[in-house]
Amino acid sequence: MSNILVEQFKALIDGEQDFICCASQLTAFLYAELDQVNWVGFYFLKNDELVLGPFQGKVACMRIPFNKGVCGHAASTRKAVIVDDVHAFPGHIACDSASESELVLPFMQNDRLIGVLDLDSPVRSRFSEDDATLCRALLALLPAFA
Ligand code: SME
Repeated sequence: MSNILVEQFKALIDGEQDFICCASQLTAFLYAELDQVNWVGFYFLKNDELVLGPFQGKVACMRIPFNKGVCGHAASTRKAVIVDDVHAFPGHIACDSASESELVLPFMQNDRLIGVLDLDSPVRSRFSEDDATLCRALLALLPAFA
């Protein structure tokens, strides 16, 4: 995991307590700093649906049912999902046809599921446990969801 990226992002949002402001900045940060990533964004849990939040990349699905797709799987199990080949994942929801692999992390604050952070890559098997660890460390820096 890159501790440098964690330190950089910490410095970038230092003193800012607005959640959407920092979450937006996080998507731009990851999109710029990670190689071979074509989409990074949040979906927030609202009334049993995941609703599109701040993101970078092409336009995407705006609402995902809580138990559908890779995002729904990560949200309902509250576990990170690494998909090496999205075409082989049952129920995968294709937003950008360029996406070949995907990493989705549940985003929790104080034991409450806030939503998920979703990263897509145009390359198969792009994401590792290291990427998941990095994203968890970055998510932990965000101010309280409001
Ligand atoms: N592929 C996701 C949908 C969101 S887009 O990738 C931005 C899924 O299967 O849940």
